[in-house]
Order: sequence, then structure tokens, then C-alpha cells
Amino acid sequence: MNCITKLETNSPKLTFLHRGKVRDSLRVDDKTRLIVVTDRISAFNKKIKTPIPNKGAVLNGIAGYWFEQTKNIIPNHVIQIIDPNLMLVKEAEPIKVEMVVRGYLTGSMWRGYEEGQRNFSGTIVSDGLKKNQKFDSPVLTPTTKDDDDTEISPDEIIRTGLVSAEIWEQMKTKTLELFRFGSEYLASKGIVLVDTKYEFGLLNGELILIDEIHTPDSSRFWRKSDYEANPDSAEQIDKEFVRQWMLANKIDGEVPLIIAPEVVAETTRRYEEIYEMVTGQKLQIPNLELQIRVRVNLAKEGLIGENDELLLV
Ligand SMILES: Nc1ncnc2c1ncn2[C@@H]1O[C@H](COP(=O)(O)OP(=O)(O)OP(=O)(O)O)[C@@H](O)[C@H]1O
Ligand SMILES: [Mg+2]
Repeated sequence: MNCITKLETNSPKLTFLHRGKVRDSLRVDDKTRLIVVTDRISAFNKKIKTPIPNKGAVLNGIAGYWFEQTKNIIPNHVIQIIDPNLMLVKEAEPIKVEMVVRGYLTGSMWRGYEEGQRNFSGTIVSDGLKKNQKFDSPVLTPTTKDDDDTEISPDEIIRTGLVSAEIWEQMKTKTLELFRFGSEYLASKGIVLVDTKYEFGLLNGELILIDEIHTPDSSRFWRKSDYEANPDSAEQIDKEFVRQWMLANKIDGEVPLIIAPEVVAETTRRYEEIYEMVTGQKLQIPNLELQIRVRVNLAKEGLIGENDELLLV
């Protein structure tokens, strides 16, 4: 086994909290949560059945890198990365808003724009824009954090009491500051930070950054050279390859959810390349059997006992 798609344990120190598309959360105690960044992948909003080796380590490592780089902009939830796939974080009171920020007109926003939508979460965008066009300044398009992530304007966010006007101002300022920092940094590495989303929480009344930051799962990355050569065909660096393959290999008109081994290998290679481009380091993973490595790392933190079961699949 060389992938983590699920971590199960009967350790009394770790209780299951939440399963997302890619990450699982376990409760350590009232103040602490363990995030398991698995090798699961989704595309076209569907869960793919084949995991991608090292994708979890790449995402966890990239998020850890950015949390460190941005801690002077805003404090964050990281306590420690205790394993390539595991991040120990401070439990915050999550703010139920996804702070989506966009530098370019693409994705779902472009689809809305093409259909005539001009008001996006309370921001009016002008007529005559083209697909993938860069905005004069980044546009905030917050959404609710529920099953259908609906657009919500700052006025509604405050009026419905999701956050106070004061906290909203801080979230907005920090979002734009983080996005500017990320965009400039990545531009120097040949990557366009097209759009991303941040999540914030309150810890002892203070605003902190939670969840993940500037990973390929929470952001759209384009290769700068692709964008410059042909702006309207730029594609997400991480998933374009899998998506193209899925489209070319439909079965009865449906994209396949099992991915061919050579496509998996190439996807791993691409994630590792993104890791290297972002952090400037090669992805280093200890050469230990996963089951053993994770057990050892959990035990070091006192999160699992010798007789507790650990199941990684
Ligand atoms: N430090 C933290 N304190 C409290 N909640 C957190 C913290 N960090 C992340 N969260 C929350 O944990 C959840 C992580 O869920 P995750 O992103 O894995 O799945 P999801 O948001 O339900 O779905 P998706 O897979 O589509 O993102 C989010 O609701 C996020 O707000
Ligand atoms: Mg999420």
C-alpha cells in the first residue's frame, strides 16, 4: 500500500469528526484537531476512486509552507505537521463564509458571466470582459459554507450575523493581503495564482486563518507561460492532465472514475513538480512503510497507544 485514502483508529485520543472530499478531521481534544490529508482526488466534482500517491503529502506540505510564510500577515491554526499526511491544528470557532478571491474571470464566475450575470456576491463587474481576463484588481466573491456554497454579499454576511462588521473588515483586508502575497510570490516561480479561497476562525476572540492555504485543492494555478501564450485555453496545472484523460476515455458518455496506472503516475509527478515549484524543495518522504510511519508519528505525539488499532487503507 502506498496511498492513504482513509485512516481509522480506536485510539481514545482520536475521535472521528468530519470527512471532506479530500481531508478527514479527527478530534484530539476541545482545543486540538488532527487533519488527515489523504491521497483522494476529485475532478468534475466527482470523487475519483483511484488515489494519487503523494498527493496528500504535497497538499499538506504546501499548506504548511504557506502558513509559515504568511504568519506575519495573520496568525493561523497550525500547531505542527506531525507526518507528511497529518497536520495538528488548533480548534477554532469556524466562520461560515468561504472567502473566495479571484484575479481572473474564469471557472464558475465565467460561466455566470457568459449567461449575463454581472453581480457576483455584491460586486458588479463591467460588460465586455473576455474569458480568463485579468481583473484590474482582485474581486472578492464570498460564498456561504454549506452544501451548495451560495454567493453572499458582504451586506448579507453582516446582516445575517455570520460575522460582525468589524470582523468582516478584517477578513476582507487579510484576504486581499494574502492573495497579493501569494500572487506575487508565485508569479516569481512562473505560476499564476488565478483564484483561491480562505477560511477564517476565531480563537479566543482573535481572527486566525484555518483550513488550508494556496494549495492546488483550494486554488487554481496556471502556468504563466501557458497563460501568456494562449490566455483563453490556460488550464489548472494539477488536474488538467487527469481531466483531459477522463474526457477522452468516457464510458457510455460518462467520465471514468477509475484512472489508468500511467495517468496516476503522471499525476503524482505533476503534484510533486508543483510542490517543488512552490517550496523550492524536493518532496522528501521517509522511506518507511506508510502504516509504520504513521503509527510512529502518532505515537510520538501520544495520540495512539501500542495496543490501539490503526487501519490505513
Ligand atoms: N482549525 C480549525 N478549526 C475548526 N474547523 C476547522 C479548522 N480547520 C478547518 N476546519 C473546518 O474543517 C472542515 C474541513 O473540511 P474539508 O475541507 O475537509 O471538507 P468540506 O469543506 O466539508 O468539503 P470539501 O471537501 O468540499 O472542502 C471545514 O469545514 C473547515 O472549515
Ligand atoms: Mg473544504
